[in-house]
Amino acid sequence: MTQMDIETLDRRAREILTANDRGGYTLPTAGLYPYQWNWDSAFAAWGFARFDIDRAWQELETLFSGQWPSGMVPHILFHKPDPGYFPGPEVWGASNGPIPSSGISQPPVAATFARAVLETDMEAGLARARGLFGKMKDWHRWFMAWRSEAGAIFITHPWEAGRDNTADWDSAMALIDPEGVGEYTRRDTAHVDPAMRPTKADYDRYIWLVQRGRRLGWDDAALARDAPFRVADPTMTFILLRANRDLAALADALGESRAEIDSWTQMLIAGSETLKTPEGHYTAINLRTGAHTGHITNASFLNWYAGIESPEMMAELQAAFAASPYPVPSHKVGAAEFDSKRYWRGPTWAMFNALIARGLLDMGHVEEAEALRSKTASLMAQHGFAEYFDPLTGAPAGGGTFTWTAAVWLAWASPSAGAK
Ligand code: GLC
Repeated sequence: MTQMDIETLDRRAREILTANDRGGYTLPTAGLYPYQWNWDSAFAAWGFARFDIDRAWQELETLFSGQWPSGMVPHILFHKPDPGYFPGPEVWGASNGPIPSSGISQPPVAATFARAVLETDMEAGLARARGLFGKMKDWHRWFMAWRSEAGAIFITHPWEAGRDNTADWDSAMALIDPEGVGEYTRRDTAHVDPAMRPTKADYDRYIWLVQRGRRLGWDDAALARDAPFRVADPTMTFILLRANRDLAALADALGESRAEIDSWTQMLIAGSETLKTPEGHYTAINLRTGAHTGHITNASFLNWYAGIESPEMMAELQAAFAASPYPVPSHKVGAAEFDSKRYWRGPTWAMFNALIARGLLDMGHVEEAEALRSKTASLMAQHGFAEYFDPLTGAPAGGGTFTWTAAVWLAWASPSAGAK
């Protein structure tokens, strides 16, 4: 990449963030995802911090403006109605918070990126970080109260982990009979090739679970009783563990107590161990049966991000590097469920690679971190800022001009970012 290429790509990425900006929050991409999504916004903040610090803080502040009294931060905030998206606010029927929203959460990367934004803005940023600190802590406490099974964080809907149709949910989804779900019209397949999206069987169950939540008023205690879908997930567990360590560092910077946060960290470390299979791999557990799914997905490789060393996962990472030119695939290449174009069942995601690489770098695996950065950067340089990519060919897939892909270019993949 020449200096000119880098500058052009940096500019293009900034333009995408600006074009997806709706005034205080950023859409993942216009059309397919016309609202504010939780973890997408935290990535956006990381990207904005490269050229507009104030806007970076604002992105996080707008996200927390939708926090429920319970501490939960919804996965979608429906700021303005948009008929092009299904299921919209009328389907969720969730009026528990200050803004119409979905009734479930998403991986809590916010504290990690708030810390990253603060590091680029130590003086002015402390006041902004202080404004967010208590809210982030309340959110983490909500996870520990309502989503912890002995320190392993579980999800109650496939969308909660942000990996909608990963094979990790297959066994749990098979136990659901989506009886009475009724007729509905999907909108996603009007924007993107259906071969790149979840199936109808998946969607029936997604909607059925939303209908159940709505019936129960999105009440945490009611939802927890006889939950039809309960899967302990490496995405959630490792991300919350990492975010908790970052929240503790923020507590230090702000002169706040970190005792309660540290107690959660200890629980999450113990919970992470329960995700480990006898082979030493981190995989999801279907809590209704107690069985590990055994699938190696990109979430399995977040152990370093969470501060956990693993020779077994390092061997798997080397295997992933050998198996495709564009690691890390969202499902292991060669496994029966692998599908190179279908969303979370094979494609490689730049934002996930950014998390994995940050973990590798933090734990001293500099070479692997750099290899992952440069392979991911070449995907974006050749094919643009797509939602995800085919790990075998590099072909772009899903939505285009994607906020978090552009954000991780600016904050991590671009040679101008200094690989943090
Ligand atoms: C999809 C992804 C999820 C993401 C959302 C918006 O649902 O699976 O992780 O947050 O799109 O980009």
